[in-house]
Amino acid sequence: MLKCLLFRRPRRQDLLAYSVSIVSIVLISVSASATELESRIARGGRLYDNWITVLKSDAPKDNHPAWPAANTNKTGAVTWRCKSCHGWDYKGRDGAYATGSYKTGIAGITNFSNAELGRVVAIMGDKTHGLGEKLKEQDLQDLALFVSKGQIDLDGMIERANKKPKGDVAKGEIYYNTICAGCHAKDGTMPTDMPESLGKLANDNPWEATHKIFNGQPAEAMPAMRALDGHITADLLAYVATLQKTK
Ligand code: HEC
Ligand code: HEC
Repeated sequence: MLKCLLFRRPRRQDLLAYSVSIVSIVLISVSASATELESRIARGGRLYDNWITVLKSDAPKDNHPAWPAANTNKTGAVTWRCKSCHGWDYKGRDGAYATGSYKTGIAGITNFSNAELGRVVAIMGDKTHGLGEKLKEQDLQDLALFVSKGQIDLDGMIERANKKPKGDVAKGEIYYNTICAGCHAKDGTMPTDMPESLGKLANDNPWEATHKIFNGQPAEAMPAMRALDGHITADLLAYVATLQKTK
C-alpha cells in the first residue's frame, strides 16, 4: 500500500486536493493572526500603565482635569496615567488606592469588565477623560480590549489585608530562573537602571508587580505572561516576593 502511494504518478484529483489544502492552511493562518487578541490586550495593559511612555508622547505638564485638587501628592504627567486614577488592582477607591498618595475617590473600572468595546472607547473620549485626541484609534481599541477582556481579579492571587501572594513559591522559582533571570538576574536586582529590586516592588506593591508581569513593562523588551495560565504569574509573584528587597 505504502509502495503504491509512493510510486504511482500523482493524479489530477490528488494535485487538486493538495493545492486546496495548502490554500486552506494559508487561510487558516491568516485568520488566526487577525483574531489573535492576547498581544493586543497586553499592549492595552501597558497603555493603561503608562500610555505616555508607550507612545513616546509629550508628557502633559498640567494635571489631568479630572485629578482632584485635594490630592496635591501627585502632579503633572503621572495624573494622566489610567492606573493613577483607577488603580493597579482596577478597583479605584475600593482597592489599594482607597488610602495613600494616590487617593482620589475615583471609581474603579471593574464594572466595565466584559463591556462592549465601543462603550469603553466612548468613555476615554468623553469630557471627563479628554483622551480622544491624544490616542489613536488602535490605541483606544487596545485599551478597550484590556478594560473589557484583560482585567484579572487579583484578589485570587494576593491577600488584600497583608499583601501576601497566594502562589506556589517553589514553582515560581523554576519559572523565574528560566524565564526572567536572564534579564533580571537570579536575585532580581537587574537591569541596573531599574529603580528598585523586584523583591521590593513585589512586597510594597504586589498589584503593580502582577500587572506588569501579566502585561509587560511599557516601552521595554519584557515579555507579557498573559498568554500563559494565570497560575504561572501567581507563582512568579510568590517567588519574586522572597527575593532581596535591596539593590
Ligand atoms: C485623572 C483621573 C482619570 C484618569 C487618568 C483616567 N480616568 Fe477613567 N474615570 C475617571 C473618572 C472621574 C471617572 C468617572 C467615575 C467616577 O467619577 O468615579 C472615570 C470612569 C472611567 C470608566 C467607567 C467606570 C464606571 O464604572 O463608570 C472607565 C472604563 C474608565 N474611566 C477608563 C479609563 C481608562 C482606560 C483610562 C486611561 C486611558 C482612564 N480611565 C484614565 C478619572 C480618570
Ligand atoms: C528581555 C528582558 C526581560 C525579561 C525576560 C523579563 N523582564 Fe521584567 N523588565 C525588563 C526591563 C528592561 C524592565 C524595566 C526596568 C526599568 O524600569 O529600568 C522590566 C521591569 C519589570 C518589572 C517592573 C519593575 C519596576 O520597578 O517597575 C517587573 C515586576 C518585572 N520586570 C518582572 C519580570 C518577571 C517576573 C519576568 C519573568 C516572567 C520578567 N520581568 C522578564 C526586562 C525583562
